[in-house]
Amino acid sequence: MSLMKSFRYFLPATNLVFGKGMLEGIGAEVKKFGKKALLVTGRKSMKKLGFLSRSIDSFEKEGVEVIHYGEVMPNPTVDTVNKGAKGAIDNNCDVVVGLGGGSAIDTAKNIAVVAGHFQGEKISIWEFAGVHDKPRRVTSKTLPVIAAASTSGTGSHVSRFAVVTNEEKKQKIGIMSPFICPRLSIVDVDILSCMPLSLTSKTGFDALTHAMECFVSKRSNPITVLYCLNAMEVIFEYLPQAYNRGDDVEARKAMAVADTFGGWALVTSRPVLPHALSHPVSAFYPEIDHGVALAALTPEIMRFNIERGDEQTVNKYCHVARMGGEEINSFNRKEALKSVKVVKRLLKKIKLDVTLKSLGVEERSFEGIVESAFATMRVPIEANPVPVTREDILNLCSRK
Ligand code: NZQ
Ligand code: MN
Repeated sequence: MSLMKSFRYFLPATNLVFGKGMLEGIGAEVKKFGKKALLVTGRKSMKKLGFLSRSIDSFEKEGVEVIHYGEVMPNPTVDTVNKGAKGAIDNNCDVVVGLGGGSAIDTAKNIAVVAGHFQGEKISIWEFAGVHDKPRRVTSKTLPVIAAASTSGTGSHVSRFAVVTNEEKKQKIGIMSPFICPRLSIVDVDILSCMPLSLTSKTGFDALTHAMECFVSKRSNPITVLYCLNAMEVIFEYLPQAYNRGDDVEARKAMAVADTFGGWALVTSRPVLPHALSHPVSAFYPEIDHGVALAALTPEIMRFNIERGDEQTVNKYCHVARMGGEEINSFNRKEALKSVKVVKRLLKKIKLDVTLKSLGVEERSFEGIVESAFATMRVPIEANPVPVTREDILNLCSRK
């Protein structure tokens, strides 16, 4: 499908335990990495659904001491990470466990970085962010991380990224290092089956964008392509099913595998413009969740890339359309636009048919969003299959 370029491929570094009821074994898995764990969760869901107490029981059964840090909110902040890290440091934790969605898992990863590098001085996760000329390097001192995923979307349970928002600077960035990859991830379908409708749709769409973006990315390679095509096919088919019937275990499993493939695609390739812009949108409007921002941005960016893309890019979007069930008769721009149609159709089915305007993103924040994107998301901007200027992005933000 594509001309073979030179590429680097990183083996997935995270072991997986996958299936119904697997959370039960979390204590035994964590015990392999330490005696004292910081357990990181959001504020409510895991407690309310009983998975927090089940995890704590499992730790206690194995004699692992556990300190619970339950203050993570969606789009987690530098302060939340630093506060959690203080808890890990003060209690001498030797392993960090993230139980929850991407926000809890990312915060666990970032806490592991801060706590692992602490040497008695004042330290913040922001020192490691790639916005500085010389960011502090994440090293093997990072504490081991174990994850238990409660959503199917971010791929965080297998990725080398941990996202954090600096509220003051309105910058949201992924700290990146192989040392951040969880050593082991538990994917328990019982937890995933508890996701309410809107969470299923926004996280599922996030997973789809990982597959689509890493596929069309300048940084894609023949191995990524396999993950991406499979994830797209599965998500187009199963996301509406998981959305309509939350307790459909097969659909939940399919989405969890696609989420994992999306995470691996992120490791071996890079996302492109929708991700580059969705982060600053959430940095300016923290109430807009990642997947929702992506839903607002993706169709128009796809159209833009198809309008201006080279032959290979156009061909790739034809493949996206095919994965969405469209018949493609020849590989050209018109046929490629069917990919926009399938994505819009999916967004309608899962009630995520939104625009920046309908989300309340004001025109006067567009410039700031673009600046923030260039400060934090240069790699995805450069990986976009079509080169873009600041002006192109401003125009894209204004498209309805
Ligand atoms: O906070 P609690 O009370 O736990 O509730 C959460 C949260 O309010 C709730 N929830 C999670 N699992 C649930 C559940 N409710 C019922 N049943 C369950 N099974 O859902 C809300 C959203 O959770 P959150 O963790 O924020 O969602 P998601 O998994 O979409 O994570 C989003 C974060 O991940 C980042 C995003 O930018 C965002 O910050 N990403 C991380 C990536 C990575 N590390 O590689 C890549 C992605 O592109 C993304 O940027
Ligand atoms: Mn994403």
